[in-house]
Amino acid sequence: MERRKFINGLMVIGGIGTLGAAIYPVVEYLVPPDSGEPTVTSLKVGKLSEFEMNSSKIIKFGRIPVMLIRDESGELHALAATCTHLDCIVQYRQDAKQIVCACHNGVFDLKGRNLSGPPPKPLEEFAVIIKDDEIIITSQKS
Ligand code: FES
Repeated sequence: MERRKFINGLMVIGGIGTLGAAIYPVVEYLVPPDSGEPTVTSLKVGKLSEFEMNSSKIIKFGRIPVMLIRDESGELHALAATCTHLDCIVQYRQDAKQIVCACHNGVFDLKGRNLSGPPPKPLEEFAVIIKDDEIIITSQKS
């Protein structure tokens, strides 16, 4: 009788272990980890003296593509590079001095205001700080 109880106990423990080994990886796969990507609040993007007038570049601000434009007067504009219509990446047109979206002909001015086409709202604006010839973009509105 004692031997039978002992063997039954071993089988129950083995069954629980097997069940746990099968369920644990499934739960680990389904539950996302606690730590996400670090939040970016400011970013150095290069030297002002090396950034040509009437030109632009797109940089990654964390996960957000941001378009940095230096207009003909030397003023800097940092705007989200994602169109507010259907999330296409916008481009700076040097000849027209405008930001255009090639997907559906959306047009924005250098302040990010939507001028024509389907985009329903302006591009998000980022603040630009110049510190010792270094261009810094921050998430605070300018
Ligand atoms: S996605 Fe830009 S105009 Fe449609």
